[in-house]
Amino acid sequence: MEFSNRLKSLPSQFFATLVKKVGAAVLEGRDVINLGQGNPDQPTPNHIIQALQQAAANPQNHKYSPFRGTGDFKQAAANFYKREYNVDIDPETEVAILFGTKIGLVELPLALMNEHDLMLLPDPGYPDYLSGVGLANVEFNTMPLLEKNNFLPDYSSLTEEQKQKAKLMYLNYPNNPTGAVANLDFFQDTVTLAKQADIAIVHDFAYGGIGFDGAKPISFLQADGAKDVGVEMYTLSKTYNMAGWRVGFAVGNAKMIEAINLIQDHLFVSIFPAVQEAATVALNDSQACVEELVDLYESRRNILIESCNSIGWEVSAPKGSFFAWLPVPGNFSSEGFADFLLEKADVAVAAGNGFGSYGEGYVRLGLLVDEERLKEAIMRIGKLNLF
Ligand SMILES: Cc1ncc(COP(=O)(O)O)c(C=O)c1O
Repeated sequence: MEFSNRLKSLPSQFFATLVKKVGAAVLEGRDVINLGQGNPDQPTPNHIIQALQQAAANPQNHKYSPFRGTGDFKQAAANFYKREYNVDIDPETEVAILFGTKIGLVELPLALMNEHDLMLLPDPGYPDYLSGVGLANVEFNTMPLLEKNNFLPDYSSLTEEQKQKAKLMYLNYPNNPTGAVANLDFFQDTVTLAKQADIAIVHDFAYGGIGFDGAKPISFLQADGAKDVGVEMYTLSKTYNMAGWRVGFAVGNAKMIEAINLIQDHLFVSIFPAVQEAATVALNDSQACVEELVDLYESRRNILIESCNSIGWEVSAPKGSFFAWLPVPGNFSSEGFADFLLEKADVAVAAGNGFGSYGEGYVRLGLLVDEERLKEAIMRIGKLNLF
């Protein structure tokens, strides 16, 4: 049996190779410190688990969910945006419930674009954006994220043709993989460009809960006119350590929200109502668990940066997300360096080129192991005398 051309055209998962290599090293009995992946290591806060346990026992929750999600969860998303960002959201027309934001990011090109329309994507960027490109059979151009521009795209380098052709643009701050954050001026410029060039904007706010040095990451929807041109995707995966629960939402432009809801009417019957009830509790209740989590990541970040400095590895501290984006030493390629570290130091990192060609020259390290292991990883790298 043959797979469809569409399925065959999907990009291969770059990081599947990393997972295989790490798995093989672990099978050999090696003590690998895995800094290559992006899976939160902490458990979901207890009050959210308890809310799920109670909700799962309620027979009302064993029925189909309303197609477009429960009113309570959509209201909680709206309350959350008002409380956290002072953004007004209509829960009925400006919220779409998602099985995690990955699905929203992948299905949106299918809902908004015709074959061969042009999409603008960040490079480096989250690899799954390309799954949406492949499924919808659209074209894409990349916007380089350069260190000298604080890893923000430079809109002045877009060509007139790109501006005319592009229908959809994805952005992501705090950024995976660079750890960079955006400011309001940048989002304001984005709205101006979107209006001038008629480009719909998707801001992937996956790491919206994680900002360092007392600076809370800002929402794209805080920019004037943002709702006229775009949506923001918010996931509970990172803010509340709920990656396995598959729950998130999109908020913003009512037309784009309607497009997401329409395509999802054909694909799903929304999320298990008990999960929506627990997610409602996560958004509405005390956010002390989020503060604790950010403190934990910040102290891991500090340890990582201090350790790197102590071995002579000159690196910049990420301002948000749970990733550090570190330059590769000497003549190594990103992949060559990642392979070398795994082989010689039993430390797994993600090669930067897996996130796009502008990721070449970097590796991404996750702050998802405890401080001792982070220190030990950098100490092992230090022993290789590369710096
Ligand atoms: C930048 C970015 N966007 C979106 C996602 C998807 O998150 P989820 O599908 O769990 O909501 C991730 C997950 O790693 C991510 O790093």
